[in-house]
Amino acid sequence: MVLVYYHHAQQRCRSGKLPLSIRLRKKPLFASTILLTFALSAVFLFSSSDIHPQFVEDVDEMDFDDFNNETGASSYIVPNIIHYVRFNMTEYSFVDYLCLRAAFLRQRPDFVYIHTDVPHPGNGGFRGKYWDMIKMNKKLMSSIRFLRIELASEIFGQPLSRDWRVYHGSDIARIRTMMKYGGIYLDNDVLVLQNLDKYRRFEISMNWDEGDTLGSQVIVAHKNARFLSRWLDSYHDYRADIWYYNAGDLPVKAILNVHPEILHRVKGEFGADSKKSLKHFTEEGYEGWRKNDAIHLLVNHLYSVKPQDFKPLVFDEEMIQTYKFPFGQMAREVLAALNETESTL
Ligand SMILES: *[C@@H]1O[C@H](CO)[C@@H](O)[C@H](O)[C@H]1NC(C)=O
Ligand SMILES: *[C@@H]1O[C@H](CO)[C@@H](O)[C@H](O)[C@H]1NC(C)=O
Ligand SMILES: *[C@@H]1O[C@H](CO)[C@@H](O)[C@H](O)[C@H]1NC(C)=O
Repeated sequence: MVLVYYHHAQQRCRSGKLPLSIRLRKKPLFASTILLTFALSAVFLFSSSDIHPQFVEDVDEMDFDDFNNETGASSYIVPNIIHYVRFNMTEYSFVDYLCLRAAFLRQRPDFVYIHTDVPHPGNGGFRGKYWDMIKMNKKLMSSIRFLRIELASEIFGQPLSRDWRVYHGSDIARIRTMMKYGGIYLDNDVLVLQNLDKYRRFEISMNWDEGDTLGSQVIVAHKNARFLSRWLDSYHDYRADIWYYNAGDLPVKAILNVHPEILHRVKGEFGADSKKSLKHFTEEGYEGWRKNDAIHLLVNHLYSVKPQDFKPLVFDEEMIQTYKFPFGQMAREVLAALNETESTL
């Protein structure tokens, strides 16, 4: 069933029947028309000219053989679309709200795609005070597209972990989503600190710290990135009993240690290091986060990171005003920036 779905997704992708992908293709087509005209005039002027084939290629159909992971392309090749996956999550928390608003403010995406299995998300499916606050922002709402996605029950014939089905299913969904559209995938608790455009010139950029596993919470990728299909394929060795085996361990061991050239390696700037993430909730005055482009807040996993320090906390816009740890400062800066943009509208 998974294979059928995957095949179907590929089909839709190739035939380009989706209205959104047609819209996305407009710009590259326009650009390639100009480039083609330019290239043809060059041929006309210099009969022996040597035109690089990539020059007239449609960005949407890019092929990355011999792509340089350090210099990247000279222009943006990743669409400015932010993707979120929300399985079985109807209510927006304050942190979800903050992260969505910060990503929209700092990245200025063309679209925000919310892939969810919640029925009628824009029409009563998503709920709560913070969803109502999101709905009040017309500019943000007009950029949001809801896309129906089903939670997988198996991968290549292997049933997903019963307890972690939502998490392992979301790991798989983000790979398939990126293979279908490309763009910027963010976990719901990733706080974007800086605009991420500089990564949009690469085949795929992900956080991979020295000696560490892969961070799958932020993915900036073209849909044809070679790593994506290899990563999905590595799920033939799926381990239901290990939390981060397929999302972070195996892709490093089986793919990246052998082929580091297929990834633009981000060392720390996407904030995947869970020890550092914990400091944002425990270490007053810690400023290390300021050099990051994004941070995986890990708010839903603080317990698992350091159980002895765990104090259940519910964040909201009132308590955050006096929250003394670094996350308080980060959140207040987002709220102040939002306040400013809203008061100048
Ligand atoms: C979805 O969430 C509800 C309530 O939180 C829970 O009872 C249910 O088991 C969840 N479904 C899955 C597939 O995890
Ligand atoms: C690019 O790939 C090389 C291997 O060819 C690797 O050593 C290097 O770290 C990579 N650079 C980046 C920025 O990912
Ligand atoms: C937003 O700005 C108004 C003034 O324009 C100010 O009174 C209010 O305290 C600000 N709120 C926040 C959360 O910064």
